[in-house]
Amino acid sequence: MTTELSFATKHGTVIQVHLLSVPYKAAGVYVDQYRTVITDVTEKKLYERELARLDRLNLVGEMAGGIAHEIRNPMTVVKGYLDFLGQKKEFEKYADRFQIMISELDRANAIITEYLTLARSKAYDAKPENLNEIIKDLISLIETDAIKDDKNINVELEGIPNLFLEKIDIIQMTLNLTRNGLGAMDAGGYLTMKTFTKEKEVILAISDRGKGIPPEHLDKMGIPFFTTKDSGTGLGFVVCYKIAARHNAAIDIQTSPTGTTFFVKFGFGV
Ligand SMILES: Nc1ncnc2c1ncn2[C@@H]1O[C@H](COP(=O)(O)OP(=O)(O)O)[C@@H](O)[C@H]1O
Ligand SMILES: [Mg+2]
Repeated sequence: MTTELSFATKHGTVIQVHLLSVPYKAAGVYVDQYRTVITDVTEKKLYERELARLDRLNLVGEMAGGIAHEIRNPMTVVKGYLDFLGQKKEFEKYADRFQIMISELDRANAIITEYLTLARSKAYDAKPENLNEIIKDLISLIETDAIKDDKNINVELEGIPNLFLEKIDIIQMTLNLTRNGLGAMDAGGYLTMKTFTKEKEVILAISDRGKGIPPEHLDKMGIPFFTTKDSGTGLGFVVCYKIAARHNAAIDIQTSPTGTTFFVKFGFGV
């Protein structure tokens, strides 16, 4: 017979056990004895509960994905018409309003992207990639961001080994960090992006010459919705943390009143 029971241990804790009891045969005949095996399954039960919880979370993630899709499609249509109408002569005097409507839609879209990254249940799908190649593809996009606000970009990429990376996530993380860095500086500021290796780690360092992060804000970095910006989401850095964690990478922050550097440190084995 098998059964599951709760036992109180002599330390006062309760453990879950699995009990298996079989009649004992001696020299081929059943004697009036049982062989009983009791296994502590407390931890297994915990894992099972955790797996069930993750399953529910996955469901929430999938639903979020579905809803995001349904919201994005109509937004794309609205944005398309705004672009189209905004270029018409008769709406010329409303050009700034059109610009606001379009940039608000872009912002809403960015928030959906951040939520999706946080909720995504998709299995981690990394391939061998070179971080430098991913960054090279992004430079023109980052430069466009920088030029708009009269800021400058420096890129210094050293030879680095390939890493197992999920490209789309690395793109999002890099853009979030560079946009935060650009946003932290006044016009004329320099943002530097570097990659290099150090002690079995590939490091991506993104430095700005902004005013730094005060200690009372530093503690709050990584808490969802923490933002000091009027139109911030407070999700950008949380997303970066999540992406780094998925890659077994760590993020270190060095900050002072003359600027901030974010180091993303990827281990590449021995
Ligand atoms: N490079 C930086 N320099 C100064 N402060 C920063 C920097 N990066 C992030 N922060 C601070 O962390 C907050 C949270 O950043 P983030 O999660 O990206 O959200 P958001 O950019 O929407 O505010 C910012 O509002 C800002 O106060
Ligand atoms: Mg941000």
